[in-house]
Amino acid sequence: MFNLLENLVYKNKDYGKEGKLASYIPALLKADPNDLGVAIVKLDGTEYFAGECDKTFTIQSISKVVGLILAIDDNGKEVVFDKVNVEPTDAGFNSIVNLEVKDTKRPYNPMINAGAILTTSLIKGETEEEKVGKLITFMKKATNNPNISINEEVYVSEKLTGDRNRALAYFMKSNGILNGNIEEILDLYFRQCSIEANAKDLARLGAVLANDGIIPWSGEKLIEKDTCRIVKTIMTTCGMYDASGKFAVRIGVPSKSGVGGGILSSVPKRMGIGVYGPALDEQGNSIAGIKLLQDLSKELDLSIF
Ligand code: DON
Repeated sequence: MFNLLENLVYKNKDYGKEGKLASYIPALLKADPNDLGVAIVKLDGTEYFAGECDKTFTIQSISKVVGLILAIDDNGKEVVFDKVNVEPTDAGFNSIVNLEVKDTKRPYNPMINAGAILTTSLIKGETEEEKVGKLITFMKKATNNPNISINEEVYVSEKLTGDRNRALAYFMKSNGILNGNIEEILDLYFRQCSIEANAKDLARLGAVLANDGIIPWSGEKLIEKDTCRIVKTIMTTCGMYDASGKFAVRIGVPSKSGVGGGILSSVPKRMGIGVYGPALDEQGNSIAGIKLLQDLSKELDLSIF
């Protein structure tokens, strides 16, 4: 397995040259677009990795999966999906168009920015610190990494430049679907996006999801089985935004990308996969990471379909 992963990193590394680093969050421009790493964690706890799998990056939209899990845990699925739909969209991840012309009452799904800002607003806690604490504690457990923390530089960079998300949030407020202190909700969202992890951490989180919410290395239950089912379904249909259909055909594994270059994948009952490659394609997904996953899915027959 180690050889296979080494070969796939070597084979796909150059695709990074065809992509671009995310520039709308200026701090993300510090990444090396040539990096590529992959990690696999099987449900018996064995781990395999190759390439840049210890390098940390901000998980960005991958945090939407965590926000959704906590929102369901705090409110129940009925309350959450009364406010956020579960339909894929052909609009980009930060688009406002559907909210205005198609459904003014519910963002299309929790993986696009509008939906994620809304689900994050549903995480319960007395203070913002408490809510951030819940996100970090969850990530520490799910990754078996006590050092998980927020990258302050990326957080500040996104807060300073996050006007599109501000627009989405205030638009939802004006439609009466986002309630509460909007700046605080946005701050929590920016902070969750700035959580740092590496490819191995993502693979472990993917393994917890693949194992129906039971942490493979400790036996502890972290997520309800039904929540895992829902989250993996939404990752499959919406996780790669307007490239989710193509990704399902080519790779066929529930996955979630982030503009930091990470991809979280979860192969039900088999393994978690974490990929890091910060050069992105037009949809904002890791360009070399997707190529690598395509080869990996073929080699290991990973498609769930
Ligand atoms: O809100 C944003 O735009 C970023 N913090 C996250 C977007 C993202 O990761 C899209 N994914 N590929």
